[in-house]
Amino acid sequence: MRRPIILEPEQQSDHAEALLKMIFGLSTNFISLPPDDVDDGINDVLKAIGTFARVDRSGVFQFGENGDKAGRTHEWSSNGAGGRLENVSAESLSWLCGRIRSCEVVHISDVWKLPAESARERDEFRRVGLRSIVAVPIVSGYSVMGFIEFESLHEDKVWSENIISLLKIVGEIFAFALSRKRIAEALKQSESKYKALFEHASEAILLVEGGVFVECNPKGLSMFACTREQIIGRSPIDFSPPTQPDGRDSREELMRKGRLALSGTPQFFEWKHRRYGGTLFDAEISFSRVELGKRVFLQAMVRDVTDRKQAEEKLASTLENLRKAMGGTIEAIVHVVETKDPYTAGHQNRVADLARAIGTEMHLPADTVEGIRMAGVIHDIGKISVPAEILSKPGKLSQKEFELIKDHPQTGYEVLKDVEFPWPIARIILQHHERLDGSGYPQGLKGEDMLLEARIIAVADVIEAIASHRPYRPARGIEAALAEIEQNKGVLYDASVVDACVKLFRERAYRLR
Ligand SMILES: [Fe+2]
Repeated sequence: MRRPIILEPEQQSDHAEALLKMIFGLSTNFISLPPDDVDDGINDVLKAIGTFARVDRSGVFQFGENGDKAGRTHEWSSNGAGGRLENVSAESLSWLCGRIRSCEVVHISDVWKLPAESARERDEFRRVGLRSIVAVPIVSGYSVMGFIEFESLHEDKVWSENIISLLKIVGEIFAFALSRKRIAEALKQSESKYKALFEHASEAILLVEGGVFVECNPKGLSMFACTREQIIGRSPIDFSPPTQPDGRDSREELMRKGRLALSGTPQFFEWKHRRYGGTLFDAEISFSRVELGKRVFLQAMVRDVTDRKQAEEKLASTLENLRKAMGGTIEAIVHVVETKDPYTAGHQNRVADLARAIGTEMHLPADTVEGIRMAGVIHDIGKISVPAEILSKPGKLSQKEFELIKDHPQTGYEVLKDVEFPWPIARIILQHHERLDGSGYPQGLKGEDMLLEARIIAVADVIEAIASHRPYRPARGIEAALAEIEQNKGVLYDASVVDACVKLFRERAYRLR
């Protein structure tokens, strides 16, 4: 290591020229001192300036992290120097510490003459046999790190301006060196924290420099099923298939994302990776820029999401199976209803298809449309409790018979209300004979009190009923059906539903199946 210049005894003097020479030597040497050599350097300088100023002791005190104590971190003493100040607590030497914190120079030539406000300092100085002291703050940026001091044990001393200037300049040099040392220590600490994180992470962490892997943690080795030698020096491209499932070129995509991350925009993405042996796996990757020491790396954190993907796929297929099972159950219900009431055979399916088409024409979400279709398929399930002879009666129904038929929305609701559909099927069925003006049944709901799905089924139901054959009358045709809903648009039937329905038949060539 390079050490600061230490003046030989014959060079010692209070002379300004010698002082300048010393300061010049100290500062040029200190600037290039490696952080690990700072402590030795400071001790050497304390010796040099202590000898130069002919003091009994020179020292550096630094404030602790919470600032309530100043500890002696560096010291030089001439032969035979007696007792010494150790740790200076803010409480025991509050007057001294307070003045140092206010960036003042503390210059005491005779400790016996200290004023009453500094009685604690006076007792402490006398206890260790101190006669005179001069202390100068060490300031880094806007914070006072501590102080540098000269002590005289054997005589009362008036410290010259030159000596105080020397301490101020040396204090500045020390502040610079100590800050550098603190930064280096903090960096070392954060590097060792990073290393611990790196070694024990539950995700693969890989460092890329110059387009190749330069580091890989143990988790990375097990994830890519390889040894260190098989991955270090290789490109990330070697651990990816040529293209990704969506057709993107792996090389181009990795290079693009790497560039973005290195320029300071972290990247998160899903990726198809390849293990060393060739098997593919699904991963989630985050790319970010890290600086370690003076080197810049692309850090890739990789999480194997194969299990999660498989679970998602399993869940999707379970849902699909459930949907199919539900569809099967509904088909069975439809079959029961239609065996009992052959005249409405196909009615529900035709209503369901028209309602689905209306929902789509209205740009409703696909899931809502699916719910409407499902409700349509079983909307007359309540007819199961109406006697078959009434349902298939060729002539006009009596008032009493009609009342029985009017029960079917409520019956349908009762049958289905406890079934857990992902849609409000039971309520749609309950409301499918309601009318916008409150003239419908069973509740006489008005306007938006009706579910939109029910307003759609209602229109589809009326169209299908008028256009098709009934036991008590022949089919009246689609034009008559459309005339009915257009005449009562906004009165009995929702205007936007009517518009969508009319558009289907007139412009989209929709036909009842
Ligand atoms: Fe009905």
